[in-house]
Amino acid sequence: MSGLGTANRGTRINGEAAAAQLRSQLKEAVADLEHRGVTPGLAVIIVGEDPASSVYVRNKIRRSVEVGFRSFHHELPVSTSEGDLLSLILRLNDAPDVDGILVQLPLPSHIDSQRILAAVDPAKDVDGFHPLSAGKLMSGSPGVVPCTPLACMLLIRGVKKEIGGLNAVVIGRSNIVGKPMAHLLLRSDCTVTMAHSKTNSLPSVCRAADIVVAAVGHPEMVRGDWIKPGAIVIDVGINRVDREGGGRLVGDVAFHEAENVAGAITPVPGGVGPMTIACLLRNTIQSACARRGVFLPFPSEDP
Ligand code: GUN
Repeated sequence: MSGLGTANRGTRINGEAAAAQLRSQLKEAVADLEHRGVTPGLAVIIVGEDPASSVYVRNKIRRSVEVGFRSFHHELPVSTSEGDLLSLILRLNDAPDVDGILVQLPLPSHIDSQRILAAVDPAKDVDGFHPLSAGKLMSGSPGVVPCTPLACMLLIRGVKKEIGGLNAVVIGRSNIVGKPMAHLLLRSDCTVTMAHSKTNSLPSVCRAADIVVAAVGHPEMVRGDWIKPGAIVIDVGINRVDREGGGRLVGDVAFHEAENVAGAITPVPGGVGPMTIACLLRNTIQSACARRGVFLPFPSEDP
């Protein structure tokens, strides 16, 4: 085992507890802002009725209200045109009490997601999906970091502060998770391999990794014998299986195999998911502070 001296074999990373801790810090930040006459505002837009997206959006709104935000919820029919969605975004860009705009993905296929994401005011881009935010992350400039990769980094840092020099494999090359995740790990001096569903010899690529981030969207694809003993395994997948039996959520990692080999591993559910929402709240407060010239210290992906 190389370089993972402090991780105990089989530690189950408690994403619920980590998220609760972050939310309580954020609640204090919101109270602090309240004293300065600032209430962060988050606008969430969902188009259509995809059941998984509806659950995510409901949770985002619930948590944002709990932490003390103003919440603006826009639930649009699946038939919404790209032009109407763009008009809504432009209105929200101009709304002074809106600090963050989140457009839940995926959007219906008749809408060009890239055009929509590029229309969000970069100062309100709490998802970090605007091309300007993506460019800043790639070039190492300060900016907003997408919520799921930020959540993964905070969970990794919770297990092991110093990760410089470790081998990290990211499985999945999406703009939402895989690509920004690889840049964050690189920024932390990991040696990063970006793998995906077409990578040759994926099991042996994984076996060389001290950190595995699985974000490929295939239920339990990563098996226990793909994991290097002692590795940190972060499972971003949320896959519903066994629909006839009522439906059960599993990740991209075969958890019960991998937990016997990994040094630390996130469960599904209860791992990355709750932390992702806490990171959205964090990014919204960051945006509210930046827009109003207030400085508050924030937990970031750096130790
Ligand atoms: N769909 C899946 N994950 C995300 C996310 O982090 N943000 C948005 N806007 N949509 C998503």
